[in-house]
Amino acid sequence: MSSVTPTPHELQPQIIIAGVTPGQTAAYDALVAFGESDPDGFWLNEAKRITWTQDPTRASTSSFTGDVRIRWFEDGRLNASVSCLDRHLKERADQPALIWEGETDGDRRTLTYRELHTQVSRTANALRSLGVKKGDRVAIHLPMVAEGLISMLACARIGAPHVVMFGGFSPEGISERLVDSGAVAVITADTARRGSKRIPHKTAIDQALKHAGTIGAVRNVIVVTVTGDEVPMKDGRDIRFTDLIKNQSADCEPEIMNAEDPLFLLYTSGSTGKPKAIVHATGGYMVWASYTFGTVYPQEPGDVHWCTADIAWITGHSCVVYGPLANGTTTLMYEGLPSWPRAGRWWDIIQRNRVTSLFTAPTAIRALMREGDDFPGTFDLSSLRSLGTAGEPISADAWMWYYEVIGKSRAAVIDTWWQTETAGIILGPVVGATPMKPGSATKPLPGIGVVVTDDKGNVLEGAAEGCFCITTSWPGQARTIWQDHKRFRETYFTFSEGKYFTGDGVRRDEDGYYWITGRMDDVINVSGHRIGTAEIEDAVAVDHRLAEAAAVGIQHDLKGQGIVVFVVTRASRSGVRPEDIAAVISRNVGRYAAPEKVYLVSELPKTRSGKIVRRLLRKIAEGQTGEFGDLSSLADTSVVDTLIADVARQNQSENV
Ligand code: PRX
Repeated sequence: MSSVTPTPHELQPQIIIAGVTPGQTAAYDALVAFGESDPDGFWLNEAKRITWTQDPTRASTSSFTGDVRIRWFEDGRLNASVSCLDRHLKERADQPALIWEGETDGDRRTLTYRELHTQVSRTANALRSLGVKKGDRVAIHLPMVAEGLISMLACARIGAPHVVMFGGFSPEGISERLVDSGAVAVITADTARRGSKRIPHKTAIDQALKHAGTIGAVRNVIVVTVTGDEVPMKDGRDIRFTDLIKNQSADCEPEIMNAEDPLFLLYTSGSTGKPKAIVHATGGYMVWASYTFGTVYPQEPGDVHWCTADIAWITGHSCVVYGPLANGTTTLMYEGLPSWPRAGRWWDIIQRNRVTSLFTAPTAIRALMREGDDFPGTFDLSSLRSLGTAGEPISADAWMWYYEVIGKSRAAVIDTWWQTETAGIILGPVVGATPMKPGSATKPLPGIGVVVTDDKGNVLEGAAEGCFCITTSWPGQARTIWQDHKRFRETYFTFSEGKYFTGDGVRRDEDGYYWITGRMDDVINVSGHRIGTAEIEDAVAVDHRLAEAAAVGIQHDLKGQGIVVFVVTRASRSGVRPEDIAAVISRNVGRYAAPEKVYLVSELPKTRSGKIVRRLLRKIAEGQTGEFGDLSSLADTSVVDTLIADVARQNQSENV
């Protein structure tokens, strides 16, 4: 772990104009102008990308003020799975819709659009046979297997919002989300492969359901056989996926939804300890997923798109499932890790499948970079046209490596900025029209208005640095936080009147390019996973030997940010060890939240009103011992020296 030093590339920002043509630039400029002059006309036109049972006649009727109301295409009616499957049956029934690559060599499955349609229909009928109805929530807790994508579309087919949960959540975390969402069924796996390890899925759900007790609404647990490991099955509640779909019909009448009916809920972290379920609506989301994916990754016949994101993230929803399928392309899913069972695994997949667009996260790019240039060099990566990245800031250095070593300076690097709440790309280049700048997510897509404000929410003009806000609604905007509209309004719409505040800091340069500087709230972005500092602190608080804790994010070479936790123990200390606390966090939040370091300290720095001064803790965690800036808000400044001494003592004892 060390702080990131500027690289030569960062010191010499450059513009890369590869592939930009006047024709495409003119078309792009015309689209931007259309979006600005007639937003309703612009979005009603984009709405034609998908199939409606009843076409919408109005675009947005949203308002960012008052109670905040986000509504799009309100009189339209549709089913999301029809736009992903049925509409393609005439033209491309025999084209692969999904290529699934397993972790084990040779483990591979291809489903054409016709086959995927059949699988989804049978799964949808199976869910209906269990009594799952329109509006019921269904939790999906699966590794990267085809059944994940199939289950999502099956839920969409019957109008049951899916709630996809990350395999790394702890049973407590799953339980909290099951209770909050009121899910009536869970689709899970026996166990999952993760390199040489096995990740328990079914037993995690069993434990989660025990925690949820009688408050939970889950009636059935459906178990996909992924590894074949033995798992306990509870009579009357648990059922094997294969048994369930075995005798189901391949015809399933889609449930026709109102545009504003929810398509899915997706949990993400905010500044409080309670994860929030972001709600996305059917019509707007489908238009938006189709538009953003189709604009940023234009697909040609025979293309194969590979987004490496887990389907439990918004990137997986929009760029593995809905975006690619709505655009009629072939989507690739890979079960395993980038370098398992050997380095070069990803490049082998690209070569064999002639992947045309790869979309991954900076964390993976940094890890692959570490393996050196030789591995990618031995594979034929010439099929690649676009190289996507999102989820975290990418340094100019990693950007250049991606561009030169993987793309051979031929493929465009597409850095896109978005969030669970935006559901699709807000900032990103349009290939052929937007010159690239390494490290910048470039500019807003046509139809989107963004601003930079000062910390009071006042709009800044020209080159400026400040807070990143969006000025008008977009079709894929989150509608609310599940059962907590007040939190939705307060989190995103009170910072600057009439604007959506993203929670991110940004710099706009003299060419109008945007450079994301990171989160401005108490959210840590570890390898692209959003984790609220309060989630970690709440998890620690359950241990009664501890008085209080503060978590901060520090720079980390590989993960982007790493977590450091400062803990004050109760008077007796009773033999608490940092590793015990790390274990409590992994157990209660999840393995992905495991801290880099836990420091036992005598006191936390606080303001006179009792607020923890994280800024100072962050600096101390990064090894700073002086020049802390203005400390006048501290209730007691002597705490600084004590903290530095506590930290130094523990770092030293570790080195002995
Ligand atoms: O801080 C921004 C960062 O990831 C956050 C959103 O995370 P999540 O809801 O998981 O959605 C990820 C969708 C890609 C943002 O608030 N972020 C996302 N993309 C970028 C980014 N930071 C810098 N550059 C990006 N391209």
